[in-house]
Amino acid sequence: MKWGKLMFKTSSADETIKFGEKLGRLLAAGHVIALVGELGAGKTTLVKGIVQGLGVKDRRAVKSPTFSLIHKYEGRIPIFHFDAYRLEGVQDMLDIGSDEIISGNGVSIIEWADRVPGCLPEEYLKITLTSISKNERCIGVQSCGKCYDDVIKTLVNVNSERP
Ligand SMILES: Nc1ncnc2c1ncn2[C@@H]1O[C@H](COP(=O)(O)OP(=O)(O)OP(=O)(O)O)[C@@H](O)[C@H]1O
Ligand SMILES: [Mg+2]
Repeated sequence: MKWGKLMFKTSSADETIKFGEKLGRLLAAGHVIALVGELGAGKTTLVKGIVQGLGVKDRRAVKSPTFSLIHKYEGRIPIFHFDAYRLEGVQDMLDIGSDEIISGNGVSIIEWADRVPGCLPEEYLKITLTSISKNERCIGVQSCGKCYDDVIKTLVNVNSERP
């Protein structure tokens, strides 16, 4: 089955974290999440949920790696959190070892992924966050490559369940 772009809506940072947690539970070694969205759209907030869903106990460890460029968290699989905001481009990303990490056995999450399109693998899950109002965000999820179809399918199911 072909899945296009799915849209979810959250009405608070907590809801975005919960959404991320559901997504994180579905992720496996080698998965790559490309996050797109303006400043304050909620990318890092979503990452907090994703890492929690991947088994990291303390999500307070999650901060935008704007200055350190990359953070690593130990969940049930290693998680690598990139932030391309301050990078000049693809070469800067490669200089921090992105190629090896992204093609490795962890989960890679890249904020501002649209700034470094050349660093993305052939298949990845693209998540676009858009502010609708102060506390509302639209979360677009798109499977770029067939290997995320199952993740999307399950995400639809778990989000249609009653809490
Ligand atoms: N529904 C929501 N989802 C996510 N964040 C929300 C929501 N409503 C309000 N917020 C607030 O918006 C802000 C989002 O900040 P966050 O650091 O996650 O954005 P970001 O996209 O990572 O920004 P940056 O590009 O600066 O790294 C937080 O202060 C959060 O509390
Ligand atoms: Mg951020």
